[in-house]
Amino acid sequence: MRAVVLVGGFGTRLRPLTLTTPKPMLPVGHRPIVENLVRMLSTAGITEVVLGLGFKPEPFVAAFPDGECAGVRLHYAVEPEPLDTAGAIKFAAEHAGIDDTFVVVNGDVLTDLDVSALIAFHRSTGAEATIHLTPVQDPSAYGVVALAEDGRVERFVEKPAPGTAPSNLINAGTYVLEPSVLARIPSGRKVSIERETFPSIVADGRLFAMSTDDYWIDTGRPEPYLRANLDMIDGVRRTLRADGVQDGARVDGSARVSHSLISRGAVVGSAAVIEDSVVLGSAVIDDGAVIKGSIVMGRVGRASTIIDTVVGAEGRVEDGVVLSHAFVPDPNAVK
Ligand code: GDD
Ligand code: MG
Repeated sequence: MRAVVLVGGFGTRLRPLTLTTPKPMLPVGHRPIVENLVRMLSTAGITEVVLGLGFKPEPFVAAFPDGECAGVRLHYAVEPEPLDTAGAIKFAAEHAGIDDTFVVVNGDVLTDLDVSALIAFHRSTGAEATIHLTPVQDPSAYGVVALAEDGRVERFVEKPAPGTAPSNLINAGTYVLEPSVLARIPSGRKVSIERETFPSIVADGRLFAMSTDDYWIDTGRPEPYLRANLDMIDGVRRTLRADGVQDGARVDGSARVSHSLISRGAVVGSAAVIEDSVVLGSAVIDDGAVIKGSIVMGRVGRASTIIDTVVGAEGRVEDGVVLSHAFVPDPNAVK
């Protein structure tokens, strides 16, 4: 079976990290998010993944130059312009010639879902489309469903106003679709699967959903992106685990690192302190810097302190400054 992974969004909510690296190429557990997704799909028997690319396609091609990832063939479908979720699925599926039941995954979601169980449930109901659901406390930032006993979706509302959501079960971003769904998607314009296509399938009574309590996180904002990384060292994933300090990270022997991920290529100077943070491979942490609850791709100067701060690849924190809840560079000031 084949799968489409949507990786063409702008990643606006993760700026400044996504000013240089598209969101699905950001590492979680020292591996690009998209590679984590492809591995999950390969365990469910997916043999080819079609990457629905738009914004910044080059880093994907550069990362997987042989057109292969985790033993799965990759097919690159680059949209001429952003087509939104359904438009991107249709474009990618047609580009790769998909004409059979297929899987779709949002490229920023990490989960321990057994995708083959979702496929089996889809087959058992005769649905046209089946979506994975997860319960959350505040559903208003997501697609929310009202579900009947038999798993049929009675309503699908994308990002309902706070207090108006029909349940706390949200669209977790993994779908099994029949190719007939593609015929519901108009060509040549932006189409949202959440706002247009799912409601039209609901109207025909053919959208089903399966809720699970598997690990699930949407990495699309800094706080969950940081947490997704820390979860890889905290042992909360079903089978996955990452080292805190990856082989090839240059961490001075006098630095103190606790509950953090430091990737290959990063440089951490003497007497630096790193806690509850993610230090990516391009980062340089100068002597005596203190990093807490932060994500760093760029440089943090000597004896500086950053707390709950995001430093993009081109971000430079000067020597001896203290920053809290900051974004460097300020994404609002960058064109
Ligand atoms: N190729 C392509 N083209 N991909 C796109 C486009 C586009 O025009 N627009 C968005 N994407 C990709 C993003 O890169 C991301 O991987 C995925 O589609 C979903 O977009 P997000 O921007 O992350 O959506 P969201 O998080 O607000 O909401 C979606 O995910 C939630 C679960 O995390 C929706 O599907 C919600 O219903 C869902 O609850
Ligand atoms: Mg998202």
